[in-house]
Amino acid sequence: MYKVLVSDQLHPEALGWLEKQRDVELLARPEIRRAELLQLIADADALIVRSRTRVDSELIGHAPRLRVIGRAGMGLDNIDLEAAERAGIAVLSTPNVSANAVAELTLGLMIALARHLPEAFGRRTKLKCYGWELKGKRLGIVGLGKIGSRVARLAEAFGMELLACEIDPEAGPKDLRIERVAFEALLERSDIISLHVPLSDETRCMIGEEALGRVKEGAVIINTARAEVVDEEALLSALDSGKVSGYAADLWRDERLASHPRVILTPHIGAQTAEAQRRAGLGIAKQVVAALRSPPQLESAL
Ligand code: 3PG
Repeated sequence: MYKVLVSDQLHPEALGWLEKQRDVELLARPEIRRAELLQLIADADALIVRSRTRVDSELIGHAPRLRVIGRAGMGLDNIDLEAAERAGIAVLSTPNVSANAVAELTLGLMIALARHLPEAFGRRTKLKCYGWELKGKRLGIVGLGKIGSRVARLAEAFGMELLACEIDPEAGPKDLRIERVAFEALLERSDIISLHVPLSDETRCMIGEEALGRVKEGAVIINTARAEVVDEEALLSALDSGKVSGYAADLWRDERLASHPRVILTPHIGAQTAEAQRRAGLGIAKQVVAALRSPPQLESAL
């Protein structure tokens, strides 16, 4: 029997599928605390996580039997990939399944900022301030991977002008009119900047004091990537001065952002749709069990 420990919320259909496998013993503990996880990992053959579980070298050190780590989702920044490789553990993920969900939330946050939705909800009288339209605005997409490309497609339908900067000049949809520019030019020219890069040493704090100094006066920033991509201290100063007129994020660290009048925050719900979670859950459950059953064909996300 393969012991599969699930330490984050996984779609019920994925749990049901795992339960039906005769050679799998499932332990689903979506709200498990660290201390207990360090104990239960000791005899697990596979671990399935989302972003809540920190899979670091300490956890891997407590997992002598672990052969596979499955990430039901895209970002691998909560997993120490080098420690996993050193321990001979395969890391699997579902990189494509939630791009649309995150892109739709990105557009939703853009509209929420533009139309002051949080203040407007539930009122009977109009807000005194005007909102603004997406149509005709210049959107700068930082990172034109799966999510950034989907954002581009949705934004085009709103009549936005598209700029993008990305590492791979070949990336992104070929049939859309997207002007590819340097990061600095994107900052200087965009009315709205939307971040779609994975967290890495290269992207950590890429929106810092210097970048914020370059943005157009009154630009807005949408962050559905990772909190750490933005230097929140520098952002707070830019918000206070009005240089950045709005910030919407699906993740944040500094609690001062939560009470800032120019900020809208959501609790990392980008991929939290039934569709995306069903695809991610079933996709990772099947990959993990296949890897357990066929050790020589283990595929690593590294
Ligand atoms: C991802 O990297 O897949 C997204 O950020 C979603 O993370 P989650 O699975 O924790 O919702």
